[in-house]
Amino acid sequence: MIIIRKFQPADFPWIIDIERKVFNEHDPYLYMKFYENYPDTFIVAQINGMIVGYVAGFQAGDGVGRIFSLAVHPLYQRRKIGNSLLNEIIHVFTEMHIKEMILEVRWSNIVAKKFYQKLGFFQYGIAEKYYNNAEDACLMKLRI
Ligand SMILES: CC(C)(COP(=O)(O)OP(=O)(O)OC[C@H]1O[C@@H](n2cnc3c(N)ncnc32)[C@H](O)[C@@H]1OP(=O)(O)O)[C@@H](O)C(=O)NCCC(=O)NCCS
Repeated sequence: MIIIRKFQPADFPWIIDIERKVFNEHDPYLYMKFYENYPDTFIVAQINGMIVGYVAGFQAGDGVGRIFSLAVHPLYQRRKIGNSLLNEIIHVFTEMHIKEMILEVRWSNIVAKKFYQKLGFFQYGIAEKYYNNAEDACLMKLRI
């Protein structure tokens, strides 16, 4: 059974593990800082006591919510866990009177672009050389 709930500090090692497996690009301690600043919009998915995915978002302006990071452990992908995490953060953002959500995704990350498009996100721009390796970011938005 999957439990979707708010991040707790004891989840931190699981988050680091998932981050290293899927991105390996953020300083993991950013996530603790993130929790200190935005505890309501740092959400995890738990199965049998293990954390298998997370989404970290924050209010980025008046009526705007931004996704900082979203990931599902490779062994648990394609089971609608990403979907459940995103739906939960949409719910929380809605309660915060947020009207639109934005995020950036690597231009080469076809899977994530498909994933977000399926949930109704659309591309509204490109940030050139946004990432450390000079890759462009696809800017995506969802009206909620
Ligand atoms: C993107 C990610 C979070 C999706 O999570 P997930 O739990 O595997 O996705 P879901 O099972 O909820 O998929 C929902 C829909 O997204 C699309 N999708 C997800 N994975 C896909 C894949 N590998 N190939 C094609 N479409 C895919 C499908 O339309 C899917 O619906 P379907 O299974 O009914 O066809 C996950 O692949 C991941 O962690 N990737 C690495 C990190 C990343 O890229 N994060 C996003 C950038 S910030």
